[in-house]
Amino acid sequence: ATLNEAFEGCFLVGTAMNRWFIMDEVPGVLDFASSQFNAVTAENAMKWGRINPSKGDYHFDISDALVDYAQANEMKVIGHTLVWHSQTPDWVFENWRGRPVDRDTLLARLENHMEKVAGRYSGRIHGWDVLNEAILDDGSWRDSPWRRILGEDYVATVFEMAHRIDPQAELYYNDYNMYLPGKRDAVVTMVKDLQARGVPIHGIGMQGHFGIGRPSMEDFTAALDAYGALGLKVMITEMDVTVLPWPDTLAVGADISAAAENRDELDPYTEGLPADIAEAQAEQYAAFFRELVARRDFVSRVTFWGVSDADNWKNNFPVRGRTDHPMLFDRYLQPKPAFDAVIAEA
Ligand code: XIL
Repeated sequence: ATLNEAFEGCFLVGTAMNRWFIMDEVPGVLDFASSQFNAVTAENAMKWGRINPSKGDYHFDISDALVDYAQANEMKVIGHTLVWHSQTPDWVFENWRGRPVDRDTLLARLENHMEKVAGRYSGRIHGWDVLNEAILDDGSWRDSPWRRILGEDYVATVFEMAHRIDPQAELYYNDYNMYLPGKRDAVVTMVKDLQARGVPIHGIGMQGHFGIGRPSMEDFTAALDAYGALGLKVMITEMDVTVLPWPDTLAVGADISAAAENRDELDPYTEGLPADIAEAQAEQYAAFFRELVARRDFVSRVTFWGVSDADNWKNNFPVRGRTDHPMLFDRYLQPKPAFDAVIAEA
């Protein structure tokens, strides 16, 4: 069975697609993805910096192609993302002198952006990651230009705006490390406040950039249940299970090739994934899926952050140029032990 066949009636199984895939520059990937997945998220193509890098300059070719592809293949489209501190150009927050804009100007720019992007695809988007990464690991608010300029109540403002512009789309809050208790509790508090005020929010996205043994099953299930108890849909929106260590000695974004003495330690599987590690990864994926399937009443989607180990962002994050193996399919689109382990949980 394929993934979407195996989990039919349970939850959607999605993938993120990058520009090369969407524009059909890597042979076979489009057909392969539509055979395995029934939801698709643009890995980058709908981010502000890609759609509208400078004022008045719009690029919809890749996102248009993605939405057309999804529609032709009966895949749900997940919009990613409308409000984020990252991959949003500086000009959005600045006036012509490079000084921070006032609240009304930023609101007008955001509304224009949402009209241009969410409005363009209105009716064709299943759900939007409206707000991405607004809360830090300790549960405090991220001090982003959005919050600084729009004010402390900006979360309600941006969800209401998104709902006005695409009333049919489900609206999500999306973030990483959503299993950390401090962050989890802050998200629950934020959502309860929105719900009490009637602000439209329909789902919680746990990004799901995981590792072998991380998060603990205890933290993972406690978070799923806490979000499920809010009465919202819960999704894993960007799943990957890295097999590589986090490099404490290198800066995020550093090039691994420049770190000769660390190379073997931090990039150990350049010759291929050893069988025992592939097995450990498979067990880890299975453990996550077991808990997700057990919560199918409120878990509505699991999306992998990529199609295969090739062209996967984890080869370049947190440092550039490693050989990671985070997906269910290897560099030749062949199923790994993790694929069979996940299917066995369906
Ligand atoms: C990543 C993409 O995968 C990369 O190609 C890009 O260079 C940076 O962004 N959280 C998110 C995603 O919400 O948008 C990020 O995607 C990964 C972390």
